Amino acid sequence: MAKKVGLIGCGAIGTVLADAIERKVIVCDELVVFDTDAAKAQKLKRSLNFRVKIVGSVDELLAAKPKVVVEAAGQQAVRDYYEKLVASNAEIIVMSTGALLNLNADDPKVHFPAGAIGGLDAIAAAANAGIDEVTITSRKNPKALGKSNTEEATIYEGTAKEAARQFPREMNVAATLALMVKPVQVKVKVISDPKVTRNTHEINVKWRYGDMTLRFANMPHPDNPHTSALAAWAAIQLLKTLLK
Ligand SMILES: NC(=O)c1ccc[n+]([C@@H]2O[C@H](COP(=O)([O-])OP(=O)(O)OC[C@H]3O[C@@H](n4cnc5c(N)ncnc54)[C@H](O)[C@@H]3O)[C@@H](O)[C@H]2O)c1
Repeated sequence: MAKKVGLIGCGAIGTVLADAIERKVIVCDELVVFDTDAAKAQKLKRSLNFRVKIVGSVDELLAAKPKVVVEAAGQQAVRDYYEKLVASNAEIIVMSTGALLNLNADDPKVHFPAGAIGGLDAIAAAANAGIDEVTITSRKNPKALGKSNTEEATIYEGTAKEAARQFPREMNVAATLALMVKPVQVKVKVISDPKVTRNTHEINVKWRYGDMTLRFANMPHPDNPHTSALAAWAAIQLLKTLLK
């Protein structure tokens, strides 16, 4: 089967992913791209030397029969295209995981990478035995949160679902964690801190046979400070696996 990839969204993550195909980090015969901003798709195509086809809709993208489709567009895109995507034969990688919390996301064709965090294998393993408490504290520069505070401030405390709703571009990471441990609720804290340049996520898990602390200090993507660079590389890793 031809290793054809469909990409929805040609922004920061989509561009890193396409560049990985160009450099043969990912082996793929053809990339089919769709972006509601046609200029973004054209800019991406111009920067690449392998076969890239620009299409004008998700229907056209699916008609090209990609083996894997990567959503790197936004939560609304997931809500708008979800039914069409799962009705196709493609494997689907969802980056905007916040949208999945409100959908029946149990379709085996739907995958999501760990994104800006990791260690989900250990957390998922512990969830089988029983998790007592999961917390994630995310600390970002105000610029990465669309804020302008000059002193450190806790700007959110609550559930993952609400965090992903209030910060659709920044807190998909909490949604990803919530999808791994559901029905256990994740306690989320978001700190806007002008002293930091990295996006840090600290996860604490108390489970039946121990506890875990995981910490990630990610550089923001240079083109999009809301996105951690690691998220794109997590998508690349998952795409490589699904294309095998
Ligand atoms: N899971 C994670 O840990 C994680 C980490 C970082 C980012 N993300 C999410 O991944 C998504 C992509 O991130 P990014 O940094 O590449 O964003 P970006 O803003 O740089 O790029 C998004 C692109 O999608 C396009 N787009 C928007 N709506 C669309 C639609 N309905 N159909 C087609 N194209 C559309 C935009 O024009 C833009 O070019 C965001 O939702 C972001 O929050 C998830």
